[in-house]
Amino acid sequence: MTHHYCVVGNPIAHSKSPLIHGLFAAHCGIDLEYGRAELPLDGFREAFTRLLQEQYRGCNVTAPFKGEVVPLCRQISDRARLAQAVNTVIRLPDGSLRGDNTDGVGLVTDLSRNLQHRLQDKRILIAGAGGAARGILPSLLESRPAQVVISNRTHARAEQLAAALSAYGPLAARPYTELDSRFDLIINATSASFGSDVPPVPGHCIDGDTVCYDLVYSDEPTAFLRWCESRGAGALHDGLGMLVEQAAESFYLWEGVRPDNSAAIIQQLRNTAP
Ligand code: ATR
Repeated sequence: MTHHYCVVGNPIAHSKSPLIHGLFAAHCGIDLEYGRAELPLDGFREAFTRLLQEQYRGCNVTAPFKGEVVPLCRQISDRARLAQAVNTVIRLPDGSLRGDNTDGVGLVTDLSRNLQHRLQDKRILIAGAGGAARGILPSLLESRPAQVVISNRTHARAEQLAAALSAYGPLAARPYTELDSRFDLIINATSASFGSDVPPVPGHCIDGDTVCYDLVYSDEPTAFLRWCESRGAGALHDGLGMLVEQAAESFYLWEGVRPDNSAAIIQQLRNTAP
């Protein structure tokens, strides 16, 4: 029997999730169909509830609906509750929904397994304090870094986020202008990358051992990664690996099988035009 899933968002036409899950399914020998559903910004709740009453065993959720799905789930994982965002929905046998969030684990798996960067005892800077930053923080803190600093254009938002999650690890908020030393890892979680802006991280935060990671992925290096390169960063990565690894974790939650072909898929997507 075919297992049906989809990704919901708006817009959704360019989502790579159907391709990624199709490759996981083929590799694992599972009969699966994975579609895209563009749901309305106005009336999302009703449209989503109706959709999940159809044949779907679950779905992925992307922008701008990750927060809106939280109250629609009867069960919610700890990491999704802390992130206040759901990217994976599982339909339980009684028809009710369980919400989870695999974004953070996707990032940590990409960094630690694919890219071989250890996070334990490292100093990490996150630029940005919006939904993307919040989504990755629970898993980053679980990796036992020495410190995670959040800097944001609107400092009050960084302070709120640090206060909300500081019980889970060594987390602090600092204005960009007060960052006075280097970091082992700098993560761009701002939406500045969608344009050509770069968050105002001081140049002295980067040295030849600093790993720079942009949550956004694109065919060309992002403005943030180009800037990090000009500062002599040790390694530059975009978010393609995170995209594939968060999908692998969703697949595992749905099917109980962990696909082991992520690295090959990342390579394949890198070599394929959008
Ligand atoms: P997302 O869900 O993608 O995180 P968001 O919640 O709107 O989206 O958050 C966007 C983040 O990018 C915020 O941290 C925002 O800073 P503000 O809180 O000050 O708005 C940050 N951001 C967006 N454009 C930026 C820019 N040009 N320079 C620096 N930070 C920027």
